[in-house]
Amino acid sequence: MINQMNVLGIETSCDETSVAIISNNEIKTNLISSQDFHADFGGVVPELSSRAHLQILIPLIKKALTTSQLSLNQFNLITATAGPGLIGALLVGLTFAKSLSYALKIPFIPVNHIEGHIFSGFLMKEKPVYPYLCLVVSGGHTLLLIVKSDIDIIQLGTTIDDAVGEAFDKVSKLLGLGYPGGPKIQFTADDNESDLINFPVARCKNEFDFSFSGLKTSVLRFVQKNYGSAEKIPIEDLPMITASFQTAAVKALITNVEKAIGKYHVASISLVGGVAANQMLRDELAKIAKSYNKKLIIPSPEFCGDNAAMIAYRGLKLQEAGYIYGFDYNAYPSLKDNTFINTTGAAF
Ligand code: KG4
Ligand code: ZN
Repeated sequence: MINQMNVLGIETSCDETSVAIISNNEIKTNLISSQDFHADFGGVVPELSSRAHLQILIPLIKKALTTSQLSLNQFNLITATAGPGLIGALLVGLTFAKSLSYALKIPFIPVNHIEGHIFSGFLMKEKPVYPYLCLVVSGGHTLLLIVKSDIDIIQLGTTIDDAVGEAFDKVSKLLGLGYPGGPKIQFTADDNESDLINFPVARCKNEFDFSFSGLKTSVLRFVQKNYGSAEKIPIEDLPMITASFQTAAVKALITNVEKAIGKYHVASISLVGGVAANQMLRDELAKIAKSYNKKLIIPSPEFCGDNAAMIAYRGLKLQEAGYIYGFDYNAYPSLKDNTFINTTGAAF
């Protein structure tokens, strides 16, 4: 007899293969294997990503089972990311998860990757309280949301061009610092030089939307005007340029968060997604949360970037809410139709 609730989570949407096990609401294992070789190409190469997932997934599942001292026949639920992400990469995890669920005769729940991030604060000891303001900052998305319940998510704003993580990656590339750009920029930036260059913060028609492509172009123009090209930037100037870019990017995010807190009553705030690892963003948001007396939940670094624990958690919640999915469920590249995020609903 099964007397435990064991959930297997699989995440293969981009360049991290991740496998997690949640047993009786406790994260037993969260293994993440990063495909670092993409750095040689200056960004993620989709086909290489799919091939790497194919190679690493089963060994990673075996390792997760050994670590958790569980066997496959002790599981009650299989979850996997179905989108958004790279289609070839998604299909590896999704197909494997469906096959496993079919063979084991247990339910399978497809999970929206961004919803995984949105609820990743619940993986922490101190959890978000509904309704919470959620800032999603990843490589592909920048969203400002009000999360009212497990299935009621209202979008206040989104990016009208580049995602903030994408801006970090592009600016890093144009400065010759490499990929992934976020950590490269953060660790090159000198906090004492963060306001030496006044890069612009864009304003959008919808007061909660974001725009980062103008900021990226400003950095490019600054480099062209002052040095001619990136190769000619003196090494001692890089900390000033990266710090000033980081300040402008963080300011753009924080400004909208502050406007939203002023307008809507929320019980707490959560910062999620890969860019949530950024120290300046964490510090600035903490200041705002403190001044408005709101609880702030930011996942620990392991759960900010792509991970399967957030997928297993989200899948479990959907199952508890009674959702059932068939084996015809397909992978999808963009957020649009397969999400509980409501882009037209009223915040309250
Ligand atoms: O959520 P994530 O791991 O993958 C996606 O779903 O996109 O986010 C990846 C993004 C990349 O753009 C990366 O440069 C950015 O997160 N990132 C950071 C930092 N660490 C990762 N951005 C700014 N500062 C960081 N410390
Ligand atoms: Zn992500």
